[in-house]
Amino acid sequence: MVNVAILGYGTVGSGVAKVLTDNAEEIAGRVGEELNIKYVLDLRDFPGDPFEKVVVHDYELIAADPEVSVVVEVMGGLHPAYEFTKRALESGKSVCTSNKELVAEKGAELLKIAREHNASYLFEASVGGGIPIIRPLVQALTADKIEEVCGILNGTTNYILTAMSEGGADFDSVLAKAQELGYAERNPEADIEGHDACRKIAILASLVSGKQVDYKDILTEGITKITDEDMKLAEAIGGSIKLLGVSRWKDGKVFARVSPFVVEKNHSLYAVNDVFNGIMVHGNMVGDVMFYGSGAGSLPTASAVVSDVVEIAKNIGSNIPITWSEDKQPVEDPKAFTCRFLVQVKEGKQAVADAFGQTDTVSESAEDGTVFLTENMTEAEYDQKVGALTVVHMLRTI
Ligand code: HSE
Repeated sequence: MVNVAILGYGTVGSGVAKVLTDNAEEIAGRVGEELNIKYVLDLRDFPGDPFEKVVVHDYELIAADPEVSVVVEVMGGLHPAYEFTKRALESGKSVCTSNKELVAEKGAELLKIAREHNASYLFEASVGGGIPIIRPLVQALTADKIEEVCGILNGTTNYILTAMSEGGADFDSVLAKAQELGYAERNPEADIEGHDACRKIAILASLVSGKQVDYKDILTEGITKITDEDMKLAEAIGGSIKLLGVSRWKDGKVFARVSPFVVEKNHSLYAVNDVFNGIMVHGNMVGDVMFYGSGAGSLPTASAVVSDVVEIAKNIGSNIPITWSEDKQPVEDPKAFTCRFLVQVKEGKQAVADAFGQTDTVSESAEDGTVFLTENMTEAEYDQKVGALTVVHMLRTI
């Protein structure tokens, strides 16, 4: 029997208990022995809950119990999750987590500690909710040079943007609904300002680089400034607005950005709506590989956490290697990030041609000015060319 302790009995923690209970037979079959939830750590009591009797309030009980070999950290936040994880790993207990904040900040260090103590630190649920993306990236796509990772990485904002694009939805009530459904962070600012997506793309970029891509180095813009006019501008080219985390590798340099982008109909991420996440990985040999599924919510996230528990339970006493060192991987100046810009300016087509040369004109009228799509260019080139024009709206496209 493999004994598991769950730290945090919130949306994800209770989901983990349910997955381990409801699918106990299948999971035991895959592991080769039964998994037992020996402790649930939380500040609260849960009278009437099936795990009421194993709820404890003191982490020391878990830390001191040699029978616990797997710790599931689903508390969220940096502290005390970091200290609890570190102690568990140092005593040879393996840890799996959905805590993207902690993984983005301390992932490399915790992986090193795990390695040094023949334990494992796994974090499949930290990116993309229920979508397997970490394991495919580190175990399957190993023959390629990864050139781009581009994803809808936050379920809450995708849910909000989908509702907005369908019309008639008021931002606050859609956000409240996402919170009610268990998608949003405790502080939803992390979702709507793009910080959650930023941590997730930083984790993926670090895994691809094998070095620390610091989330603080990634320019991040959320969805709070998106207006109905922006939505209409995107629709004018048959696209829709999605919050994307993008990371690119070119000539040994890393480019990254989190912001709303217009995704056109012919792009695989166009059809990723509601709480779903989609992650497109481009390898130099394999081409595009697309990952799609539920990006948030109790059971999808718990499913990914428990997949890590299963992996750990099959490898007790040994380290499951993940290459991510603490060496810093610099991220290039955001002005060097390239894309096509969808722009509405007050001036006519001729003024646009004078400033930009070749563009695709979407529309031109005396009333609305000119809407056009630039060639692919850096942000710095765009800034320089657009200087002479009066911009009404600008959106980046992918
Ligand atoms: N708040 C996150 C989201 C939860 O909406 O995607 C999953 O990480």
